[in-house]
Amino acid sequence: MERVIIRGVGSYVPDCVLSNADLEGMVDTSNEWIVSRTGIESRRICLDTEVTSDLGSRAAEKALENANISVCDIDLILVATVTPDMQFPSTACIIQGKLGCTDIPCFDINAVCSGFVYALDVGRNFLINNSMMKNILVIGAEKMSSIVDWEDRSTCVLFGDGAGAVVLSRNTDTNSEASILDILVGADGHLSQLLYCQGFGVTASGEGERERFIRMEGREVFKEAIKRMCAAVEDILLRNSLTIEDVACVIPHQANMRIISAISERIKIPQEKIFSNLQHTGNTSAASIPIAMDEALQGGHIQSGDLILIVAFGAGATWGASLIRWK
Ligand code: ACO
Repeated sequence: MERVIIRGVGSYVPDCVLSNADLEGMVDTSNEWIVSRTGIESRRICLDTEVTSDLGSRAAEKALENANISVCDIDLILVATVTPDMQFPSTACIIQGKLGCTDIPCFDINAVCSGFVYALDVGRNFLINNSMMKNILVIGAEKMSSIVDWEDRSTCVLFGDGAGAVVLSRNTDTNSEASILDILVGADGHLSQLLYCQGFGVTASGEGERERFIRMEGREVFKEAIKRMCAAVEDILLRNSLTIEDVACVIPHQANMRIISAISERIKIPQEKIFSNLQHTGNTSAASIPIAMDEALQGGHIQSGDLILIVAFGAGATWGASLIRWK
């Protein structure tokens, strides 16, 4: 079977920092409440003029540079996002235009905070099943600030903007063990009302602006996130005859430090082996894992030959996990 590797990684976050102290001036909250309940200290927020495709194309450029290939070598662009520039065309098409390539297929994937893992799975399957394709850009990009209700203290403290990208390639080195070993994705539509954004969906009542915002049952989301991410970790390890001791670094979706700590406890992995950067990014939904992956690499948390486990949970409910042997 063809092996698929992550050949390059890149990320981009906007310059503007929104601190917990800034939020204290916007809603009835406190730095102490936000840090103790979520671990988040600040997040990056786009300027009004910046859109999701700007973030995604910058992250993609960095991933291409890191992979040492030209955009002309890319055969497909996949973008995981719930904050597209427009309802259509896809943000993937807009990014293709910004990157300056043409003709290759492009489309968006909506699996909310699990979107990057879903997109990775789709990209990997394209490479395995379509011998015409050699390199695929998989991007997670979000301008969450555009769908946050800045008057709702229970959600506005959680989210941030940013993008991460990877170049997926077919592995030509038959002796190399570096590859994506497995990807698991799942969903339970019975949980769709726990976290949603009505937006421009056809069931929208048209009652106004507020339908554009995120609505969330925080406590239920919290419990499901822990339950589903732990199950995904256990399932993917079991079906690959691996144990948690084999894993060098876990990169979970960056939603909440208490969720990450609970996962660490339940799957019995020391917290030092779990990478987190949500302290300064907040929850960037589909962008969170590739941004964290890039930071983990830059910070020397991932070494050649390491077994990496990524795991996500998001609205839908959706979840996903992947085992990656680092190149
Ligand atoms: N500042 C101060 N007080 C607040 C704030 C705030 N920002 N937000 C809520 N409160 C208050 C509530 O009004 C409530 O007050 P009350 O007791 O007077 O009614 C009190 O704090 C407790 O509220 P809870 O919602 O019960 O607080 P909880 O301890 O559950 O923490 C939180 C809330 C942080 C949202 C938690 O439920 C959570 O993290 N859930 C997961 C949500 C999440 O991560 N969503 C992201 C998308 S899904 C994903 O990415 C996995």
